[in-house]
Amino acid sequence: MDYQTILEDIHHNLTARKDKGKVALYIPELAKVNIDNFGIYLNLINGENYAVGDYNKLFSIQSTSKIFALAKAFSIAGNDLWKRLDVEPSGNPFNHLSLLEQENGIPRNPLINSGAIVISDLLLSNLKNPKKDFLNYIRDLANDDSINYNEEVAKSEKKTGFRNYAAANLLKSFSNLENNVEDVLDFYFYQCSLEMSCAQLAKAVHFFGNHGVCSQGKKHLSSSQIKRINAIMLTCGFYDEAGEFAFEVGLPGKSGVGGGIIALLPNDFTIATWSPGLNAKGNSLLGMHALEQFTTKTKRSIF
Ligand code: DON
Repeated sequence: MDYQTILEDIHHNLTARKDKGKVALYIPELAKVNIDNFGIYLNLINGENYAVGDYNKLFSIQSTSKIFALAKAFSIAGNDLWKRLDVEPSGNPFNHLSLLEQENGIPRNPLINSGAIVISDLLLSNLKNPKKDFLNYIRDLANDDSINYNEEVAKSEKKTGFRNYAAANLLKSFSNLENNVEDVLDFYFYQCSLEMSCAQLAKAVHFFGNHGVCSQGKKHLSSSQIKRINAIMLTCGFYDEAGEFAFEVGLPGKSGVGGGIIALLPNDFTIATWSPGLNAKGNSLLGMHALEQFTTKTKRSIF
């Protein structure tokens, strides 16, 4: 298959579009990003790589970090994790609050903000140097020591993250946080502020497409654990647009409000796209179209 030509065609078609969505405004640092950035990186499980556009530029991975945090927490806590979290789609936006109150502080899944905050709490309790250890985990997965947090983005979100404070306080009131709210959110905001390129992201998620084995051959999770995380990505990775993503693209994936999306076909490939303009549901507009075109043109999806 001529992957390079397929990626170039998709990039060319979508760059011509006038409507590129809107960059996220609620995190002030993200509002400064140029909407014209657009990159795609394809990592085949056999080691081949194909890329187009701004695939080497760094961007804020935001909620995409939730799959790495989930993987690390699952490797630490095993199935005990599911005592504190459910695995059902929420059908609501990522920062929705009322379900958490109705369901007694058990988040619907680990990929909505409240669920990711529970995961942050678990990592904070179990990692010796949480920020440093989590960063090293990502660097190891991507085989790239240049990856870092962006402190300006983390601080920017800390000032305006009112809904995350609300979620964390609700979790605390239901005794589903061990640590105090400030410390948990500090870690959560740092985690979300990680900056990576499409190339780094596609390589870092390689282990989700390869039964838990990363591109350097190290086993991070069992095949069964990877199956479960990929199932959560498929059903919950795009919040109230998870159905639409499954319908259009047909892959497990995860988005972030920085405009990045990762998706993967087990045993076959991982792919990362970045276009900072978001649709009304907070997912990258061009990224969703790019992935729909990719799975349609290549006829490669889980369905
Ligand atoms: O907590 C937040 O609101 C952001 N740090 C992350 C949200 C996000 O990326 C949602 N994804 N589409």
